[in-house]
Amino acid sequence: MNAGADLQSVPLDKNLIELIIGIMKLWEKGINPEPAIIEFTAGKDRKTDLALTKWDIIGSMAHVIMLEDVALISEEEKNGLLKALHSLFVWDEEGSLIIEKDVEDIHSQIEKEMSSILGTTGRKIHTGRSRNDQVLVDIRLYTREEIDKLSVLIRRLFTKLQSLSEQHKEVLLPGYTHMQPAMVSSFGLWFGGYAECLADDVLLLAGARTLNNQNPLGTAAGYGTTLPINRKLTSDLLEFDDLLYNSVYASLSRGKIEMAIASALASVAQTLSRFSMDICLYMTSEFRFIDFPDEYVTGSSIMPQKRNPDVFELIRARSNVLLTLPNQIAILTTNLPSGYNRDLQLLKQLIFDAFGELRECIEIMLLMLNNIKIKKNITENPLYNTIFSTEEVNRLVKQGIPFRDAYKAVAEMVKNSSFSRTSLSDYVHEGSIGNLCNDEIAAIFEKRMQSLKNTPAVERADKVMHHVSPQTP
Ligand code: ARG
Repeated sequence: MNAGADLQSVPLDKNLIELIIGIMKLWEKGINPEPAIIEFTAGKDRKTDLALTKWDIIGSMAHVIMLEDVALISEEEKNGLLKALHSLFVWDEEGSLIIEKDVEDIHSQIEKEMSSILGTTGRKIHTGRSRNDQVLVDIRLYTREEIDKLSVLIRRLFTKLQSLSEQHKEVLLPGYTHMQPAMVSSFGLWFGGYAECLADDVLLLAGARTLNNQNPLGTAAGYGTTLPINRKLTSDLLEFDDLLYNSVYASLSRGKIEMAIASALASVAQTLSRFSMDICLYMTSEFRFIDFPDEYVTGSSIMPQKRNPDVFELIRARSNVLLTLPNQIAILTTNLPSGYNRDLQLLKQLIFDAFGELRECIEIMLLMLNNIKIKKNITENPLYNTIFSTEEVNRLVKQGIPFRDAYKAVAEMVKNSSFSRTSLSDYVHEGSIGNLCNDEIAAIFEKRMQSLKNTPAVERADKVMHHVSPQTP
């Protein structure tokens, strides 16, 4: 039986119609779905989708305002729908909005709630849309907020690395190539290097945000609708930069956007992972370049002497797992035909979890860096004498000796152990230990951060909601 049309055409009592509709699945056509099928296809969505609740409500508000604007619903219906959506928003904030056992996902749950609060009017909310464009818009609103939240943390890490770089710019370190002592480096150069890594990561993140911030709402199941909807209006209300125009592309973009975001997240993860590896290495008793207070290292249940860098080992491992994310997404979407396919549902959890993982790693890294101890006079160890040999070559070059001759002369001294370090000559070019250019790097970082809005998360949803529907409730 068709809930909408057939029930309206028979002379049934209105309350009875409400009751029948209330106990039916939204899309039910008189067939009782096998519970095991519902359970398997919903999968983890009843939990995962809760991250989308507030965005599903906000997206629905924009949709309702648009429906009234194009006269598909009345002003009175619009007001009723907005008020009901607002009360769902409040329930969600209180934690009392759940996805019930017999309901497949958040979109169906919200529609069910709307029907039970408003009856006939509630059943109009799905006019001119599909769960396919609904989930697309929810994910984009969610990831937009997550990218912005993450960028706040990345900024804190960037600032911390740059301030450590400035604070310790005079402290020399041996720089390695092939894991052999190579040339003179410094804590200023090392910390500052990872800060500049983040400046590039942020460019990828900003690019992903730009791709993400286009509106798929109105593309319905992936082929548009015959109803006279106004897609530009919902775009403005939801603060998208523009429409995602082609309806087929809108559904194709699921997976593509996740791929762009995953690549940016993986880039940040790579920075965290390599930095963590350096820390683990520099903390070994062989290196001892850095240390942390006892409260920040871990011990062993059997070896009394152990002071282990477990935090950084776990950041390294969790970041390395994040590096597999673009691959997982690529494989999940490989050979999918155009149009909606249920496979896409699994993308949500992959990408949602990744934001949480990165956030936790950056937060703990910040805590550790607030307590890092730097060893001085490292390069005075005779072990590192030869890292000054290239400097010596350059000193001779400055006296007019051809580079290759100077190189050979110093190589001979190193070979017969007669090389002894002289004083450190000046490094003046950009990006060297004597000229770190931290200000220039900070300016690049800030410029790239401009397209990432650093609004705190709580304010963000409220702000979008206020923009969508200033007069609600
Ligand atoms: N839970 C679904 C997902 O995330 C929502 C879209 C359902 N659409 C459909 N045609 N079954 O993909």
